[in-house]
Amino acid sequence: MNLVVVGMGYVGLIAACCLANSGHHVVAVEKERAKLAVLRQGKVPFYEEKLDEILQSALKKGAITFTSSLTTALHGATTAILAVGTPSLADGRVDLSQVYAVMEEIIQNARDELIVIMKSTVPPGAGQTLSMRFLARCKVPVYYVSNPEFLREGKAVWDWYKPDRIVIGCDDQAIAQRVLELYADVDAPKVIMDVTSAEMVKYASNAFLATKISFINEIANLSELVGADIDSVASAVGMDQRIGPHFLQSGLGYGGSCFPKDTNGLDYISSFSGYRFSLLKAVIEVNVRQRIIAVRKLQEKLGRLYGRKIAVLGLAFKPGTDDIRESPALDIIKFLVDEGAIVSASDPRAVENSSPFLPGCVRLSSCPYETLTGVEAVLLATEWPLFVDLDWQKIKTLMREPFLVVDGRNALDADRLVELGYLYCGFGRTKRFTIRRG
Ligand code: UGA
Repeated sequence: MNLVVVGMGYVGLIAACCLANSGHHVVAVEKERAKLAVLRQGKVPFYEEKLDEILQSALKKGAITFTSSLTTALHGATTAILAVGTPSLADGRVDLSQVYAVMEEIIQNARDELIVIMKSTVPPGAGQTLSMRFLARCKVPVYYVSNPEFLREGKAVWDWYKPDRIVIGCDDQAIAQRVLELYADVDAPKVIMDVTSAEMVKYASNAFLATKISFINEIANLSELVGADIDSVASAVGMDQRIGPHFLQSGLGYGGSCFPKDTNGLDYISSFSGYRFSLLKAVIEVNVRQRIIAVRKLQEKLGRLYGRKIAVLGLAFKPGTDDIRESPALDIIKFLVDEGAIVSASDPRAVENSSPFLPGCVRLSSCPYETLTGVEAVLLATEWPLFVDLDWQKIKTLMREPFLVVDGRNALDADRLVELGYLYCGFGRTKRFTIRRG
């Protein structure tokens, strides 16, 4: 098929490269000049495992080209895939201005029958509105299809080829079947439904995963009070196949460009629809509170934060990415600096991205040992394997009393750290956090 993919962010670039590798001809559209220049050099403008290989292979096959002009790209295209940003506005509402601009350009320039596939996350009901507002005005037949994505950053290429399901929202079965041809080489359950339901699947999936995280964080907080150990609790709870073992990792909570945006977006949509989504409101509130709890743990153990030297390991919102959007680490660092702490921070991939968003006094380094030298406490904010596997014996000689480790991801070997003489403090890891030896 001749495809146009609009918006070369995380979703768009992965879709464009993977579809090009599957034998389609892809014209990839990106308006941002700097990003376009990087792509034209055959480079990926952000860190995503395996994506550079896929891009190189697509370029070698001559199956992908990059342009800034959607109008030109539309010539000869049978399908346009939209993957432009739909960020949150201050009140939680979803900003659809980029979608509107692209739809307008499509209807002005489409010369032949076209399928428009929406991969950007848009609120349930948006597809119907977009069809009425834009497509109805087009001179040629244009069909609207919702095809939400479930790609995780850091694992997106894997998720593209091995998804749990492919969801197609379309009111026309024949068009839905044509869209499914794009995924002919992907072995996964393929489900077809109406457009609004497909849009809801995306929000419901992200909101449910966020709910699991906030739920286990509440159980961890309660475990600390009653003396239960969250590692034992979460692993046994997760053995129930109706619950499952995933997304039961307690700690600083969720960040990133998706869960915060989509939970707030769904909350806004609910309110706008006249419904109070109480559970979702609690999920959001719990997630914000986890960051404050991390700061309180540091304060409780250090006595005060003012003048204390504290290292933060991890700036990306999760391992495997250089994405810092809504990262708990950045929020916490600003909080600590406001309280007068002297903060250093490290990340293997995200130092450059973080630098413009952090106070100038924060000492940034990609070397964790440098970051940890002379500090009294460390907060693990992102569980990069590099940090989990650090030489903690050596670090003991670099750090100062009271050798406090706040494990914001419950990822470190607590028993070993206690043996080495650290004051260890996890989230609901009660059995360890009161014991101190050495
Ligand atoms: C998420 C979804 O997992 C994808 O399916 C979806 O396509 C994507 O959002 C999106 O809407 O585009 P992503 O944001 O890349 O993907 O990250 P996740 O791996 O889901 O993690 C989200 C956050 O939850 C991270 O901050 C992570 O540290 C946190 N998390 C995850 C926990 O705190 N505990 C857990 O047990 C799992």
